[in-house]
Amino acid sequence: MNYEETHNRAGHLVIGGCDVVELVGQWGTPLYVFDEEAVINNIVMYRNALSGLPDYEIIYAAKALLTVGIARFMANHGLSLDVVSGGELYMALTAGFPAEKIYFHGNNKSAAELRTALDVGVGRIVVDNLYELELIADLARQKQKAADILLRIMPGVEAHTHSYIQTGQLDSKFGISIAYNQAIDAIKLAAGMPEIKLHGLHCHIGSQIFELASFAKTIDVMMALMAESKALGIDLAELDLGGGLGIKYVEGDQPASIQDFGAYLQDALKNSAAKYGLKLPKIMVEPGRSLVGAAGTTIYRVGSIKTNQGGRTYAAVDGGMGDNPRVALYQAKYHAVVANKIGQPPEQTYTIVGKYCESGDVLINSIALPRLEPGDLLAVFCTGAYNYAMASNYNAVPRIPIVTVYRGQSDLVVERETYQDLIRLHRIPARWLKNGV
Ligand code: LLP
Repeated sequence: MNYEETHNRAGHLVIGGCDVVELVGQWGTPLYVFDEEAVINNIVMYRNALSGLPDYEIIYAAKALLTVGIARFMANHGLSLDVVSGGELYMALTAGFPAEKIYFHGNNKSAAELRTALDVGVGRIVVDNLYELELIADLARQKQKAADILLRIMPGVEAHTHSYIQTGQLDSKFGISIAYNQAIDAIKLAAGMPEIKLHGLHCHIGSQIFELASFAKTIDVMMALMAESKALGIDLAELDLGGGLGIKYVEGDQPASIQDFGAYLQDALKNSAAKYGLKLPKIMVEPGRSLVGAAGTTIYRVGSIKTNQGGRTYAAVDGGMGDNPRVALYQAKYHAVVANKIGQPPEQTYTIVGKYCESGDVLINSIALPRLEPGDLLAVFCTGAYNYAMASNYNAVPRIPIVTVYRGQSDLVVERETYQDLIRLHRIPARWLKNGV
């Protein structure tokens, strides 16, 4: 969590050495602020946390936040990239991301997407199902290439998180189920295909996970499966454990630190390796939220404030569910401060709502803040993951810009959309222009 906020003498929030009031003067509101140093620190923490493993790779899960600039930033910092669509792949390649460090995920990749992946030579295609396996084999045969793959396994582990972001339980839409020998049968099938080079297995049990025990259970299931494969003469050298480590959004959230997560994974891996008589495979992790979530802050300007007699006091900001749909979707909770009144004591409890025509457009249900006035700036923390990435143009509200801040300098990563951008793809069929019907 980055909201042990730093502020200057004027009582203004400071992020990455930049006064938020000045940032807003330059870039307007609402504004996503991306704190580079926070991400760099997280990357270093992941490296340190896993450095005891014989071989490992950190793959940034692009779905959390991807733009061409962010792809470039992650490449500069030596990370690999998990993409889930032709669009993410396109952004990454446009940024000059090395194709061999790209992992291509997705439960329903199209033939066109797979062709591109083979043509550009992505590092691994993470195969979700048998239909896709056959499709890739066909495409690889046509191209006279071998496809480097991992098989995504559904390990049957239920992570304790919101049901919408659980993925590892049996009967999930992702991966090949461990039950009824489906996984081992798929491994045998893939290992026998001449066009396919099966390097290992992948799993991902969910997101915003606090309980590390779910990871140990998963590791044990996956290592058992690797041992079963080995007994059949199929040596799998790689195990990708997916992402999922939670972050602290509000007081009371108790995620493990990256350091503890790494130590825990290493213990669990070593235990399972000993139990099944395996040597440790190369380990991959795919963090998204725990790399960029806490590094993002959204700055809004407060507008109307109203108290319903006998009800709540609402403060409305100039953004909302269009730039942050997570509250409406997952009952997500956020913490905020008044960016131009840091250090002032809380005086009133507010419900922070957005400007969208929907009652569910709430950002924070209840928060005590210094007395708000129209024009105040509200900073909502931990919006770096799955906010810009899931933003919409609902109510024809332009999507908001991202600026990155680093040691007192701020630069645009994404420009603010304009009304012209909103209608760029709109057409009026010629018949409708003739006034008649
Ligand atoms: N790897 C795979 C295969 C994934 O499906 C995901 C996330 C990740 C890695 C990264 O997980 P993370 O480290 O960020 O937890 N929109 C939801 C989250 C969906 C996560 C989807 N998959 C939210 O806003 O909470």
